[in-house]
Amino acid sequence: MARLLIVDDERSICELLEITFRKEGHRVEVASSGDAAKRKLEGQIYDIIISDIRMPDISGVDLLQYAKEVSPGCVFILITGVPTLGTAIDAVNFGADRYAIKGDKLLDELRPAVQQVSESLKLKKEAGILRREIRRLTGLDHIIGSSDSMRAIFELIQTIAPQSSRVLITGESGTGKELVARAIHENSTRVKEPFITVNCGAFPETLLESELFGYMKGAFTGANENREGLFQAADGGTLFLDEIGNMSLTMQVKLYRVLQEGKVRPVGSTEEADVDVRVITATNKDLAKEIAEGRFREDLFYRLSVIPIHLPPLRERREDIPLLVRHFLEQFRNTTGKNIEGVEPKAMERLEAYDWPGNVRELENTIERAVALETSKRISLEGLPERILLYYQNHFAEGNHGESPAQLIPEGGVDLAGHISEIERAYLLGALECAGGIRTKAAQLLKMTYRSFRHYAKKHGI
Ligand SMILES: Nc1ncnc2c1ncn2[C@@H]1O[C@H](COP(=O)(O)OP(=O)(O)OP(=O)(O)O)[C@@H](O)[C@H]1O
Ligand SMILES: [Mg+2]
Repeated sequence: MARLLIVDDERSICELLEITFRKEGHRVEVASSGDAAKRKLEGQIYDIIISDIRMPDISGVDLLQYAKEVSPGCVFILITGVPTLGTAIDAVNFGADRYAIKGDKLLDELRPAVQQVSESLKLKKEAGILRREIRRLTGLDHIIGSSDSMRAIFELIQTIAPQSSRVLITGESGTGKELVARAIHENSTRVKEPFITVNCGAFPETLLESELFGYMKGAFTGANENREGLFQAADGGTLFLDEIGNMSLTMQVKLYRVLQEGKVRPVGSTEEADVDVRVITATNKDLAKEIAEGRFREDLFYRLSVIPIHLPPLRERREDIPLLVRHFLEQFRNTTGKNIEGVEPKAMERLEAYDWPGNVRELENTIERAVALETSKRISLEGLPERILLYYQNHFAEGNHGESPAQLIPEGGVDLAGHISEIERAYLLGALECAGGIRTKAAQLLKMTYRSFRHYAKKHGI
């Protein structure tokens, strides 16, 4: 399907072309003069323009020049009722893509041209789909996880993906927000349409506006041609607005309007265009706090978070760590060609114990580094970064000289209650000695009431 603009002061021609090409499934608009066409070009983007040469106001050739300036990508076809070699040469010289003569054969001449343009548009779209398909097969939408929280998220994705409801994904940096956004798109009916990502934090405000909504030639210095915005580029598909928490308040108002009305207006245009886009947003900020502090609009928040998805930090789903490690190991084994079979238990223990402030991204980088450094067949302690080893030592290995807690348990098991009882008795005797036999003072030393002290003393026969 292509977007066509028909320009002719002869109504019968306009009607003929409009009806014919609409029937063939194209989006067709009509202008009855060169000026009217110019106005349309100021507010809309077309794939094909079919224009008469001789019109009362401005000629088709002038319109052609204007169109090529504002929308260099569009195909321009000139038609004429009085064919002369001169006009034909003019048409070609000024960059018309085709030239056709009005009469019985007009449709026969135009149809293949329109057909060709819409074919090439289709090919372009398919190339995009192919790229996405490759990305899918290389595992980009591969979300790993077996924890209850991740399972619940998988289920939620499957339920909500097919619909077009908006999704707000929250979670710390590196928890997989973008991965989830892609998975939603891949599992939706929009899978064959574009998935476009915009990092809202990466653009200054005015640039973000023209990036999202497009602009018309002359809207600002440097706007040398009409340009489609990402909302329109994502038409039919999904637009992923990343780092939405960094969007300025002014842009938030503009985004709110677009979501409310389903229409976008390019910068410098007077016309609005309908868009059908599923909007998925993500942030690692706490939007409730942003709202409370006046940096995020509450009304926009409610529009965006129809379906909220929160990705828990990795330290709250440690059972996913071994699976993720295996997944990344496999991935880097393939890319490096190194035949590393696994991870030594001691190294895995450290990986599972670490608190992962950078979440899955940090784990991914850690495994990549370990694979690169490893000279044996298994990833060992030496392959892990200092911070991960230190964390373990500080949190789990106090007095154990870096040995694992498993070392506490002798082969035949241990009588824990008996062990504790011995400790209690030793402390009681120790406190009494320090207190010179004064029981109330001993109780104070052990931070217990005199009553409790008496209870323990009786229990241990002291
Ligand atoms: N559950 C997962 N399974 C497999 N890979 C994952 C998973 N979660 C995250 N990753 C990987 O970790 C890296 C970071 O993920 P992603 O970019 O989606 O995080 P993010 O939440 O968008 O982070 P940021 O807030 O920093 O943009 C990516 O390479 C991604 O492939
Ligand atoms: Mg991200």
